[in-house]
Amino acid sequence: MQILVTGGTGYIGSHTVVELQKRGYEVIIVDNLSNSRREIIDNIEKITGIKPVLEVFDLEDRKKTSDFFKKYPDLKGVIHFAAFKAVGESVEKPLMYYRNNLVSLINILESMQENDVENIVFSSSCTVYGQPDHLPVSETAPIKKAESPYGNTKQISEEIIQDTIKVSKINGIALRYFNPIGAHESALIGELPLGVPNNLVPFITQTAIGIRDELKIFGNDYPTPDGTPIRDYIHVVDLAEAHVIAIKRMIDGKMKNDFEVFNLGTGTGYSVLEVVKAFEKVSGVKLKYKIVGRREGDIVQVWADPTYSNKELGWKAKRNLEEMVASAWKWEKAYRSRI
Ligand code: UFG
Repeated sequence: MQILVTGGTGYIGSHTVVELQKRGYEVIIVDNLSNSRREIIDNIEKITGIKPVLEVFDLEDRKKTSDFFKKYPDLKGVIHFAAFKAVGESVEKPLMYYRNNLVSLINILESMQENDVENIVFSSSCTVYGQPDHLPVSETAPIKKAESPYGNTKQISEEIIQDTIKVSKINGIALRYFNPIGAHESALIGELPLGVPNNLVPFITQTAIGIRDELKIFGNDYPTPDGTPIRDYIHVVDLAEAHVIAIKRMIDGKMKNDFEVFNLGTGTGYSVLEVVKAFEKVSGVKLKYKIVGRREGDIVQVWADPTYSNKELGWKAKRNLEEMVASAWKWEKAYRSRI
């Protein structure tokens, strides 16, 4: 059973490739390596014993995308991760984000139609809910106006998929991720931010290992118990497992509708300070941090209602916060010792 994983050398992509291979799927990766490294392929092989096929090109290229689909006529489905994902950068370079994230999706969908590939799992985000009116947030909550071009590409992409489904044989599942953190237990794959990390956990682990001076906590005057914002952090391996279930659900013809949406979160929210404390506990490292002003665009708090995903997918996030930050720390140390 052949599956295309776009962005398969990236953070969530690489973990999903491992879980797919473990369950017997043959994975073909397309990646332009713009935000990842070719060596990840070797590390995937070290984990699973199977080297996935890697085709390096840019999915913005219509002709190359079309040629790729013709080269692999047996594809049963697509899991589409490849996209730019930095919120701040998207505000600076909106057209770069709209072109990359939307054009590549359009090229994939056109090629799927031409080649009778009927199943696509799309990497979406809880960012589509903005600051929800009710917590926990379920899949039926209204979509809020996007705070950034990045967030807008996720909303528009879901709409592009829905409109395509209406006029084709394509089925789609949008998986709305909450905050993926952590790394594979082998510490051979993990999150590898280029330059200064934007996200909390890579910033924590890089500070602890001495690459950054101190963590800046963006505000402690929010209306939350300790004043810092709350998120639903989910282990990347739990997230990866949900992708395997989603693609199988499509291939097995088990969908309720031709477009489905699932929240991927644990259902529990933790504050920034709680994440810092969990990290200090599992690592034994005292983290240097200081409280600074709020970061523009940050929402106060969000966590998932995963009831529908738990029930419909038969999936549940299993790994707790301490396991998440411990695995992120193990990965950071292992990665730094290798380079
Ligand atoms: N934070 C800090 N210091 C840092 C980095 C983050 O205090 O150096 C705080 C943030 O203010 C926030 C929390 O840690 O309260 C989590 O921040 P992240 O940047 O790790 O995650 P976000 O929730 O801001 O962003 C994530 C994804 C985005 C997505 C967004 C939608 O990274 O892709 O959720 O809510 F758009």
